[in-house]
Amino acid sequence: MTVYITPSILNADFADLRTELERIANADYVHVDVMDNHFVPNLTIGLPVVERILAVSPIPVDAHLMIEDADRWAVAYAEAGCASVTFHVEAAAAPIRLAREIRAAGARATIAFRPATSVEPFLPHLREFDMVLPMTVEPGFGGQSFIDTVMPKVTALRQAITEQNLDTWIQVDGGVSRDTVTAAAAAGANVFVAGSAVYGAPDPAAEITALRELATSARQLLA
Ligand code: DX5
Ligand code: ZN
Repeated sequence: MTVYITPSILNADFADLRTELERIANADYVHVDVMDNHFVPNLTIGLPVVERILAVSPIPVDAHLMIEDADRWAVAYAEAGCASVTFHVEAAAAPIRLAREIRAAGARATIAFRPATSVEPFLPHLREFDMVLPMTVEPGFGGQSFIDTVMPKVTALRQAITEQNLDTWIQVDGGVSRDTVTAAAAAGANVFVAGSAVYGAPDPAAEITALRELATSARQLLA
């Protein structure tokens, strides 16, 4: 299973996003955190800024919507050209219908779960999603500590995906760094969001390479 590194720009310089995107051009996707100050107690950017990121980014965009009323807004991010659109199960009235709409608009569909939200009801429906995101921090802010008690959830998802012979990716987001990426990969994750670890590093591109090597080694041990 391929490993993907997706730096979050939440800790980048928002006044100079074009340059900040170029600094992570060796990553697989750029992770863009959209927050509405309702679903989470923080406010970032919306569709107009994401459209400009799409226009200048050297790599595909992975949009993480931490917004209420996902059913209403998520498809527009797919139509704008995001390669992957993530919505939260806690904010969607009809998650499977929404995933189908995102796919129909040409993007990969991802369902995200807060640390305390159970993934169990979705294990029989994993084929409806291209990626699942069990959050490893409470969504809202960068720079928080990795919650390792989420790892059994990652393992349960990986087991269900394997049993059902699917190619669903598992992303982890929050507190991912050189210290935690191996545990997440060993539990079953293959897509790694890292915000402060990448943009806080002196050389973001080198940090991406280091994270990719650690994650790939951990995944290969399982193969
Ligand atoms: C948190 C966001 C994350 C955040 C990760 O709610 O969804 O994407 O930017 O930042 P770090 O890697 O610093 O935890
Ligand atoms: Zn995120």
